[in-house]
Amino acid sequence: MTELDRLLLALALLTLYILWVCVLLWKHNKPGLRPGNTDKTDFLVAYASQTGNARALAEMHANEKAQHHNVALLPLSSVTLERLQQAKRALFVVSTYGHGEPPDNGRSFFRMLRKTNKEPGCLSSLVFDVVALGDSQYPHFCAFGEQLYKQLQVWGAIPASSITRLDHAKGEDGLQDDTERNHSPLDEFVLSSRQQLNHGTAHPLFEITLTPGNSDWQAGDILDVMPQNSADAIETWLQSHDIDGSYTFEINNQNWTARQWLATRQLNTPGPDACLSDTLTALPRLATRSYTIASIPKEGVITLIVRRHMRDGNNPGIASGWLTAFAEEHSAIQGRIRVNPACHLSVGNGPLLLIGAGSGIAGLRAQVAKFTDTRSAIKPALLWVIYGERDPLHDDIAIATLPIPNCHNDNIRVDSVFSRCPDNPQYVQDKLRQHAEEIKQLIMQGLQIYVCGSYAGMGESVHATLIDILGDDDLQMLTDHHRYHRDIY
Ligand SMILES: Cc1cc2nc3c(=O)[nH]c(=O)nc-3n(C[C@H](O)[C@H](O)[C@H](O)COP(=O)(O)OP(=O)(O)OC[C@H]3O[C@@H](n4cnc5c(N)ncnc54)[C@H](O)[C@@H]3O)c2cc1C
Ligand SMILES: Cc1cc2nc3c(=O)[nH]c(=O)nc-3n(C[C@H](O)[C@H](O)[C@H](O)COP(=O)(O)O)c2cc1C
Repeated sequence: MTELDRLLLALALLTLYILWVCVLLWKHNKPGLRPGNTDKTDFLVAYASQTGNARALAEMHANEKAQHHNVALLPLSSVTLERLQQAKRALFVVSTYGHGEPPDNGRSFFRMLRKTNKEPGCLSSLVFDVVALGDSQYPHFCAFGEQLYKQLQVWGAIPASSITRLDHAKGEDGLQDDTERNHSPLDEFVLSSRQQLNHGTAHPLFEITLTPGNSDWQAGDILDVMPQNSADAIETWLQSHDIDGSYTFEINNQNWTARQWLATRQLNTPGPDACLSDTLTALPRLATRSYTIASIPKEGVITLIVRRHMRDGNNPGIASGWLTAFAEEHSAIQGRIRVNPACHLSVGNGPLLLIGAGSGIAGLRAQVAKFTDTRSAIKPALLWVIYGERDPLHDDIAIATLPIPNCHNDNIRVDSVFSRCPDNPQYVQDKLRQHAEEIKQLIMQGLQIYVCGSYAGMGESVHATLIDILGDDDLQMLTDHHRYHRDIY
C-alpha cells in the first residue's frame, strides 16, 4: 500500500466515523415519544387517571405531539418539581375522583405542588394546558383539573389556553368528536350465559358471560358496555310521542325503523318538533356503562358480575336492567375493552390482599384467576380475600364464585363478612381493623392491596381504615409504588 492509499483509507474511515456520529445525534434529537422520565424531552404529557380514561387520552395526545416534539408521557405520580422546571411545555390530562379529589396517581404530586416552601415563580418557564375529565352529575365537576390549573399558576407557570372540561355525562371522552361518537361501531360480543349468583334477595347479582373471549385484556381491565333500552321503555316513548315504531328512515346509508333506532338513544330528551327523521337522529346515543372484567383470557369468555341496580322504585337501571334481564341469551352486546393499568397487579412472590364487596367480587375473581393460573410463574406467598355482602343466608357467594383450585395449598385464604349477620354483623373495614397488626406485618413483607366495589360505603371506608392502620403517608407511599390499587365506582 502506498502512502497515498493509506491517506485515502484514513480519510474514508474518518468520513464513516463522522457519518455515524451524525446519525446517532439525529436519532437522539429527532421528535418522538421517549419512554419514561428522560431529560431529553421538551414536551411533557402527564396524566392522573383512576380507571384509564385520562390515561388513554393522554397517550393519544402524546402520540400526536411526538410528530414534532420529544415527548415524555408520565403518570403524575412520577413527575417531580425538577422535571417540571426542565420542561418548556406540558399538557396535564387529569380526571376527578371521590368527592372532587385527585385520582390516586395524582394525589402525591398535588400534595407536593401545594406545599408552601417553593420559590415564587419557580415554574415561570413552563407553559401548560390542562384537559380535565369529569362527570357533571357529581357536585364537584372537574374539581381536580381546576385546582391543578390554578395551583400551577400560583408558582408562575403560564397557561397556554383556558382549561378544557370533558363531561362523561355528555359522553365526551376527547378521543372522538360528537358526530363520530354518536355513530361509531363498538366491538360486538354475544351474551352466551347468565346466571343469578345469590337467591331470595331484592339485590340480585348476576354472572354474565360474553363471547368471543379472545380479545386482549388482563385482570384489572374494564368493559365499557353500550346498553339498550328495554322494549317497554321504547313502546312507552313511541306512544307518548304518537310515533309509529315501524317508521323507516335512512342514516349513514343504513335503513332503520324508529323502534330499532330508539334502542340505543336517550329517551329522556325532548320529543319531536320538526321533521320526524331529524328528531329521531338528534336523540343522543346512550352513554356506555363500565363493568370490571371478572375473567382472564385463558378462560375463553369475558365474564361480568352485575348487580341489578334499581333506580326509581321498581325500574331497573338501563345497563344493569338490560344485561341482567332484558337482553336475551345469545343476543349481541356492544362494548369496548378499556385498559386500566392502575389495576394491573405485578406482585413478585409477595403477599396479596384482595378486598371487595357486592359486585366488586368481579375484580377479585379476575385477580384470583390470574394468580391461581397454573401457567403463571408468579405465586403470591399469600392470596387473602376479604369479601363483604349483606346476608349470610342469601349472599354467601365468594367460595362458589372465586376460581380457587381444589388442590390449592394454604396460601389462599377467603374471609366473607356479612353486614346483616345476626350473630356477628361486620363490614370489610371491620375485618381489616380486626387484623390490623397482621396487615402491618404483611406490609413489611411487600404486601400489595387491591380494592374493588362501590366507592360510597365500601371504597371510602376501606381507604379511611387503611389510613388509620398504616398512616396517610405510608398508604400514599404504597399508592406511588403500585402496591395499593383501587377499582372503585
Ligand atoms: C370503573 C367501573 C367499574 C364498574 N364495575 C361494575 C361491576 O363490575 N359490576 C356492577 O354491577 N357495576 C359496576 N359498575 C357500575 C356500573 O357501571 C353502572 O353504574 C351500574 O350498573 C348502574 O348502571 P345502570 O345503567 O343500570 O343504571 P342507570 O341509573 O341507568 O345509570 C347509572 C349511572 O350511569 C350514568 N348515566 C346514566 N344516564 C346517563 C347519561 N344519560 N349520560 C351519561 N351517563 C349516564 C350515571 O353515572 C348514572 O348514575 C362499575 C362502574 C365503574 C365506573
Ligand atoms: C367513584 C367516582 C367518583 C367520581 N367523582 C367525580 C367528581 O367528584 N367530580 C367529577 O367531575 N367527576 C367525578 N367522577 C367521574 C370521573 O371523573 C369520570 O368518569 C372520568 O372519565 C374518569 O376518568 P379516569 O378513568 O381517567 O379516572 C367520578 C367517578 C367515579 C366512578
